Amino acid sequence: MRIVTSVRAMKSAAARFKAAGRTIGLVPTMGSLHEGHLSLVRASKKAADVTVVSVFVNPSQFGPGEDLKTYPRDLKRDARLLRAEGADILFHPRPEEMYPRGYRTYVEVHDLQNRLCGASRPTHFRGVCTVVLKLFHIVRPDRAFFGRKDAQQAVIIRRMAEDLDVDVRIEIRPIIRDSDGLALSSRNAYLSAEERRAALVLTRSLKEAKMTIERGENRSAAVLARIRRRVAAEPLARLDYAAVVDPEDLEPLAVIQGRALVAVAVFIGRTRLIDNVTVETAKKKRR
Ligand code: PAF
Repeated sequence: MRIVTSVRAMKSAAARFKAAGRTIGLVPTMGSLHEGHLSLVRASKKAADVTVVSVFVNPSQFGPGEDLKTYPRDLKRDARLLRAEGADILFHPRPEEMYPRGYRTYVEVHDLQNRLCGASRPTHFRGVCTVVLKLFHIVRPDRAFFGRKDAQQAVIIRRMAEDLDVDVRIEIRPIIRDSDGLALSSRNAYLSAEERRAALVLTRSLKEAKMTIERGENRSAAVLARIRRRVAAEPLARLDYAAVVDPEDLEPLAVIQGRALVAVAVFIGRTRLIDNVTVETAKKKRR
């Protein structure tokens, strides 16, 4: 595996792969890799000739007061894991190269970026879209792989790629969970033992929501009330939001019919965690 740290070197490697007719899979990450990321690497290896994994803690997607400085970083460990998975290139650019002095250009996906996580992180998705579009230009992937835990991010990146005519297939892969159900996240590393236990409130409230819907409750307000009650009962947890939305366009659903995404963000102590579940109920037949 090659470690590439300059944009120029990454662009010329991509150009060589393209000239040789090889397909490129890209797995964008912020490092501190876990099984969720590695499952994306495996999917890319199956689907593309060459797999590039970017490891870049993207400053533009962190708001003031967020955890940019403390975000876990361990490039040596990441490189070891990626080598073991057979990734071809680890792309690790410096922030000064991705955002040089005088940098002024940002990508926004209107409306979608303001909902759910965007309500409490107003510049987050503009940062995500900007860096992902830059990575698309630099790496020129045929396919790019993202996890479904960041369901809103997935919807927004799909929209951006379509709206801006980027020739890339966006692949969204399942959430990978610990044996007790907690969704894997690099931010789980912040949790104390007690907080780790409390964090299961995300998994449990979503499980309960799914069961409630599958048993016939189709009013989102009733489902959300249950989630709020459960989170309120956990002393270390504070709800940021809970929502039931259309999985394609993130529009809030008052009545659940067909597919719905139930998404939550919860602060466990100072750590903000997200999770979601998709439910599918039969659509009522029109008479
Ligand atoms: O999902 C993430 O880890 C990041 O938002 C991404 C897509 C790598 C962009 O920095």
